[in-house]
Amino acid sequence: MRCTLISLSLLSGTLAARPFLDEPDTGFDMFFSNLATGQLAPLDQLVGLPDFEAAAKRYLPIANYTYYRNGAAGEWSFRNNLEVFYRYPLRPRTMVDTSNVQSTLPTTILGYNFSAPFFITSAARAGLGNPAAERGLVEAAAAENILYVPSLYATLSIPEIASYKAPSQVTFQQAYLDPSNDTATKLVFDQAKAAGSKAIVFTVDAPAEGNRQRADRYDASEAVLPFTAITWDYYDHLKTLTDLPIILKGIQTVEEAQAAVAHGVPAVYLSNHGGRQVDGSRSPLEVAIEIRAQAPEVFTQTEVYADGGVRYGGDVVKLLALGVRAVGIGRPFMYANVYGTEGVTRAVQLLKREVALDAANAGVADLKNIDPSYVIWKQSCALD
Ligand SMILES: Cc1cc2nc3c(=O)[nH]c(=O)nc-3n(C[C@H](O)[C@H](O)[C@H](O)COP(=O)(O)O)c2cc1C
Ligand SMILES: *[C@@H]1O[C@H](CO)[C@@H](O)[C@H](O)[C@H]1NC(C)=O
Ligand SMILES: *[C@@H]1O[C@H](CO)[C@@H](O)[C@H](O)[C@H]1NC(C)=O
Ligand SMILES: *[C@@H]1O[C@H](CO)[C@@H](O)[C@H](O)[C@H]1NC(C)=O
Repeated sequence: MRCTLISLSLLSGTLAARPFLDEPDTGFDMFFSNLATGQLAPLDQLVGLPDFEAAAKRYLPIANYTYYRNGAAGEWSFRNNLEVFYRYPLRPRTMVDTSNVQSTLPTTILGYNFSAPFFITSAARAGLGNPAAERGLVEAAAAENILYVPSLYATLSIPEIASYKAPSQVTFQQAYLDPSNDTATKLVFDQAKAAGSKAIVFTVDAPAEGNRQRADRYDASEAVLPFTAITWDYYDHLKTLTDLPIILKGIQTVEEAQAAVAHGVPAVYLSNHGGRQVDGSRSPLEVAIEIRAQAPEVFTQTEVYADGGVRYGGDVVKLLALGVRAVGIGRPFMYANVYGTEGVTRAVQLLKREVALDAANAGVADLKNIDPSYVIWKQSCALD
């Protein structure tokens, strides 16, 4: 059999020849040409996730916008997270009855039922986008029945966020932890538990402050984190401090995903922190491909989540095809939260519709039975 070699170096060479499209031109500027700086575009005229960034960028003070937009250093990882999806095309099928695909959007995450295989992930400081801060995120998650994972560095406290939860709404709590202070760690775990959180999402990809040059210009950087000793021994120790499941967020290699399975993690969360920690780190899509190629059993041994650069329904479809169970989305929901609960709700609804449309047009009848053959993820004989 002849195999066509997709040369990634060749492809990325081609990509390097044209400018990065921070805002792909789908007509926003032309349509909203009368919108003055500092004005907010009408919510019902926004048609997709990237519109929320375009709208927020024109409305928010530059320092506020920059805090959300920021990536590390030269922002290669930030850009790659967005562009990488186009280096791994879909392989759509036809002659498949996809008319019921919408009914296959609901899924379980750690055993909890949700209406979609994507969730609102942890981003600090919603107060920079809206005076009601995290309220819009938690309320929209309830209204649309999707998972929300509040950040430990939220503008509101853990109990304040919990006060806006709907009865029986399931949330997980993100945490940064200090291995030299179990008292502080216990406090976070106990607060999360008291607030009804069903899991801890421990972020392990930020053992030091990110090198964030764009943010430094506007004094919009993160709270200064100390250098932190996060190890497997520490993870094993953490399990003695709470009975909540502890998910690891920020796994970036196949061998660490395997080690996580060996340490009994309830879920592995692939992430490069939206390109905000170490520039040069790969997109979670590339890490999912590495796992698919070298240890596909990981996808059945534990639940795998991923985030970074997801903006369209097709991006979600590709990650699910590789074996990811649920996809996190950071910046777009922070931009949508400029409009509060209504804005985040609309963003969720738009993405749900896109996931269903893109799955149907790719010939996916059932999102829960999608398989890797829907994405060209390796040098492929299928192209012959
Ligand atoms: C403004 C901002 C703040 C963030 N704060 C946190 C945080 O407090 N904890 C964390 O684990 N990740 C944090 N992240 C990373 C996100 O959880 C997520 O990994 C990333 O935003 C996904 O990429 P996306 O923005 O392209 O969807 C933050 C990201 C952004 C954009
Ligand atoms: C989740 O959904 C399944 C199937 O629809 C149902 O049987 C189960 O009771 C639900 N679980 C919860 C906790 O609602
Ligand atoms: C911008 O951020 C500041 C906090 O630094 C906040 O007080 C203000 O409300 C934000 N602006 C908007 C429009 O949300
Ligand atoms: C540990 O954390 C607790 C609770 O936040 C704090 O009161 C205490 O000062 C911390 N201890 C050290 C040594 O930093």
